[in-house]
Amino acid sequence: MTQMCRVQSWCLGVTLPLILAAALHQGFATVAPPTTPQTTAAPHKDPERPERGNYLVTGSNGTACLLAYMGLQLNISFTSFSQNKTVQDIVNLQPNFTKSSGSCEAESATLRLTTDAEKTNLTFVFALNTTSNKYHLSEVSLSAAWPDMKEHFFAQNRSLDYLRGTLGYSYMCREEQTLSVTPNLSINTFQVQLQPFGLTGDKFGAAEECQLDEDDMLIPIIVGAALAGLVLIVLLAYLIGRKRSHAGYQTI
Ligand SMILES: *[C@@H]1O[C@H](CO)[C@@H](O)[C@H](O)[C@H]1NC(C)=O
Ligand SMILES: *[C@@H]1O[C@H](CO)[C@@H](O)[C@H](O)[C@H]1NC(C)=O
Ligand SMILES: *[C@@H]1O[C@H](CO)[C@@H](O)[C@H](O)[C@H]1NC(C)=O
Ligand SMILES: *[C@@H]1O[C@H](CO)[C@@H](O)[C@H](O)[C@H]1NC(C)=O
Ligand SMILES: *[C@@H]1O[C@H](CO)[C@@H](O)[C@H](O)[C@H]1NC(C)=O
Ligand SMILES: *[C@@H]1O[C@H](CO)[C@@H](O)[C@H](O)[C@H]1NC(C)=O
Ligand SMILES: *[C@@H]1O[C@H](CO)[C@@H](O)[C@H](O)[C@H]1NC(C)=O
Ligand SMILES: *[C@@H]1O[C@H](CO)[C@@H](O)[C@H](O)[C@H]1NC(C)=O
Repeated sequence: MTQMCRVQSWCLGVTLPLILAAALHQGFATVAPPTTPQTTAAPHKDPERPERGNYLVTGSNGTACLLAYMGLQLNISFTSFSQNKTVQDIVNLQPNFTKSSGSCEAESATLRLTTDAEKTNLTFVFALNTTSNKYHLSEVSLSAAWPDMKEHFFAQNRSLDYLRGTLGYSYMCREEQTLSVTPNLSINTFQVQLQPFGLTGDKFGAAEECQLDEDDMLIPIIVGAALAGLVLIVLLAYLIGRKRSHAGYQTI
């Protein structure tokens, strides 16, 4: 009888934290932002995740001085020629039709991405602070002349502070990020790894993970720790209960 009871409480003890953990995870899952981009903005185009492109800038001595491996998506608003109004468009940069170039100096590095027929010129400028040995994306500019644009699109912001990294390390972010440039342009980045300074031999330095990725990893750790704690409590309760019932047998 006591055996049955003990087995039941053991089973309950194990399933309860499992259910709890599942519920916890469910709660977090609904809080997390949706991974599929909104389709309402551009119904004629499917804003899938962009492919990752391998972009490189070579310095004056022929070795790579800037490396970037990332997927880029432009979120751009411009006046449409055919619709005669401002439209919002989501456009993925296609690595196969994108060329990279640029230049590297001691305290600034430039990555220029140019698409087919030079209809899109996208420029990233990274700045290095030689006092703190930290780098960041300080400037983005985009000029575009797409078929449906009523006029040339140009957006530039020279006071940005994104993608912060440390000299000698590469910056890495698996999570999607939005870099807002001007009211008319933002850039969504996907699975970024880049290094604008301090490369050694055409290879990325050790990766520094972005805050978003660390936050993402925290959730399973918290759930796991909670689960382990509950299992431990149940196990202790079971052992104490067994000890008590053994003591009971001995007195009889
Ligand atoms: C090339 O130049 C970079 C600085 O721009 C320097 O760090 C690197 O050591 C140089 N590589 C060679 C092979 O000289
Ligand atoms: C594009 O930008 C607009 C406004 O800035 C925003 O409402 C929309 O969610 C963005 N879309 C994507 C796919 O990033
Ligand atoms: C954004 O685009 C609209 C037209 O599409 C233009 O009138 C406006 O000046 C632009 N804003 C900026 C900050 O470039
Ligand atoms: C485009 O819209 C503006 C007002 O928004 C109007 O003045 C102009 O006539 C329109 N052009 C065409 C070709 O429909
Ligand atoms: C890009 O090129 C690679 C090989 O050069 C090919 O495997 C891939 O399918 C191409 N992707 C697109 C979208 O054309
Ligand atoms: C470089 O970093 C130092 C220390 O963090 C800071 O005091 C300084 O203002 C920075 N310089 C620039 C040009 O941002
Ligand atoms: C992109 O840059 C090239 C070379 O500087 C230029 O010829 C082209 O007109 C530019 N395209 C746009 C859309 O500004
Ligand atoms: C440039 O970016 C900064 C920081 O995100 C923002 O405060 C500023 O309004 C932007 N400038 C323009 C012209 O959009």
